[in-house]
Amino acid sequence: MFAYSTSGLRVFLGACVVQCVLAGQGFTKGLAIIDAPSAGSPGHAGSILSVAVEVSGNGAMPTDSAFKLLEVFLLSTESGINLTVASGASLIGGEEGSTVKHLNWVVPKCLDPGNYNLTFYETSIIKGEEYFIITPVSIPIINENPSGQCTGLNNLEAQPQVDSPPSDAPFGNASDFTDSDTPDDGSALETRSIPLLAIMLAGLLSCMAMVA
Ligand SMILES: *[C@@H]1O[C@H](CO)[C@@H](O)[C@H](O)[C@H]1NC(C)=O
Ligand SMILES: *[C@@H]1O[C@H](CO)[C@@H](O)[C@H](O)[C@H]1NC(C)=O
Ligand SMILES: *[C@@H]1O[C@H](CO)[C@@H](O)[C@H](O)[C@H]1NC(C)=O
Repeated sequence: MFAYSTSGLRVFLGACVVQCVLAGQGFTKGLAIIDAPSAGSPGHAGSILSVAVEVSGNGAMPTDSAFKLLEVFLLSTESGINLTVASGASLIGGEEGSTVKHLNWVVPKCLDPGNYNLTFYETSIIKGEEYFIITPVSIPIINENPSGQCTGLNNLEAQPQVDSPPSDAPFGNASDFTDSDTPDDGSALETRSIPLLAIMLAGLLSCMAMVA
């Protein structure tokens, strides 16, 4: 009985860990799966913005597929900003052996508050073909006291920029990364939480079935 309930609990917890993580992921049109940030989650000036990208296709990378380059910039047409968050191999080349690449980026205090895009530029070989995929994740920047001049700014081009993603996204339809589902939009929050609750309830029921 005890053995059953522990293994049941383990299955339930395992299922929850896998499904809860999947529920929060954002699928780009390329190989990158964005675990964090989600659209609408704010960056606070002077604090760390956590970026996490799944780079193994959740363990199901198609054949003849690999990243060539994955860079990240913080952009805003409103504020005239193009700031490097990760360039070259600093993100994709880090944490050898890990399927999730992390970045703890300190949001500079020089930024004006407002709407920004945390934009991922991916160059990848997908099923033998090379593609260039741009994914802007819409996030607000909160800054009550902008201070100092931003340095190291890049030239800002008009958005959206031209990319060439594959006609079929490798891991199903790409997610919506615009911030129409910010926390102050109650309806969107609801549709996000209901499946999560359903998944957890299903996990709990299967756990109870195993224990019984
Ligand atoms: C931002 O700067 C990077 C580096 O120069 C460039 O590759 C990218 O196209 C720029 N993005 C925009 C929207 O200007
Ligand atoms: C974010 O990107 C979208 C799509 O490229 C663009 O329409 C929008 O103006 C950008 N937002 C900001 C604040 O730059
Ligand atoms: C992708 O979107 C299309 C059109 O909205 C839909 O018909 C299709 O079932 C979706 N595919 C997946 C894998 O969700």
